[in-house]
Amino acid sequence: MPLTHTRDLFAKALKGKYALGAFNVNNMELLQAIIEACEEEKAPVMLQISKGARDYANPVYLKKLIEAAVSTCTIPIAVHLDHGDSFELCKQCIDEGFTSVMIDASHEPFEKNVEITRRVVEYAHKHNCVVESELGHLVGAQFDEGEEGGGFSAGGHYTHPEEAVEFVRQSGCDSLAIAIGNSHGAYKFKGEQHLDLDRLKSIKQALSDAGLGDYPLVLHGASSVPKDLITEINKYGGQLGEDTAGVPEADIEVARRIGCTKVNIDTDLRLAMTAAIRKVFATKPKEFDPRKFLGPARSAVKDLVRHKVRDVLCCAGHAFD
Ligand code: G3H
Ligand code: 13P
Ligand code: ZN
Repeated sequence: MPLTHTRDLFAKALKGKYALGAFNVNNMELLQAIIEACEEEKAPVMLQISKGARDYANPVYLKKLIEAAVSTCTIPIAVHLDHGDSFELCKQCIDEGFTSVMIDASHEPFEKNVEITRRVVEYAHKHNCVVESELGHLVGAQFDEGEEGGGFSAGGHYTHPEEAVEFVRQSGCDSLAIAIGNSHGAYKFKGEQHLDLDRLKSIKQALSDAGLGDYPLVLHGASSVPKDLITEINKYGGQLGEDTAGVPEADIEVARRIGCTKVNIDTDLRLAMTAAIRKVFATKPKEFDPRKFLGPARSAVKDLVRHKVRDVLCCAGHAFD
């Protein structure tokens, strides 16, 4: 099956009230784990590639690996540029055949963000590619004391519903990544914090009231940072802090029901891989065949992806909707 467009995947996901998992790919084992889990669970999937992944693995290798994945499975697969930081990088990926790109100019003032996004949208739409953009900053709730309270949020880092409407109208982006207390990495929250799900509802409602329909929203930083993986990593010599924390899976489920159609997960894959590799190194110190530690790492990532698509995102079984 050829690569699928996120436009089709989003329309079906919105109708079916499930979310698409957008998993980061950096090497063959990660790709195989994601694809095998999604193929077995009959889940549509988005593979996302960051600038860092391209630098690490070489874009040609990644392209060929994804071609191999596409040719050996039956599920719909979209390939997406994660956090594109310039028009030039987005153009390069569009020219290489990506079906979706993200332009992340969220650090820029509103007007500049619109201008950069608009330029990418114009090029992408001419080449049958869709564009995700971001409004608000993912600084993370760990710095935050609420919308008006913390030093970071005082600068307006959360996405504001009315601004989201204006941004989508002016930029023409096809989906919008929002900031509702989410952040990247393994240290997201301090204490019992949650996503601002009321804000998410207001953003969704404002877009709908403005005539933009059931507009697709994207949740970055959606790893849950499972405690058992942190414990396992530290048990086998890791030194991750006591204060690791992710987004509770219950929050992701609510976000999915409200209308977060694409849910980005990278950190949890990294943790699963690290825990499995550390375990082999610690328990079998004489082992030096990479297949003996990369194999278990691949299996651990596969189990994790299976859990996400089946129990959290609920996209399992929807590959052929
Ligand atoms: O949002 C960031 C993703 O986790 C990708 O991370 O830039 O280290 O590849 P990376
Ligand atoms: P996590 O760090 O929570 O996995 O987020 C990944 C992400 O947003 C990639 O764009
Ligand atoms: Zn992200």
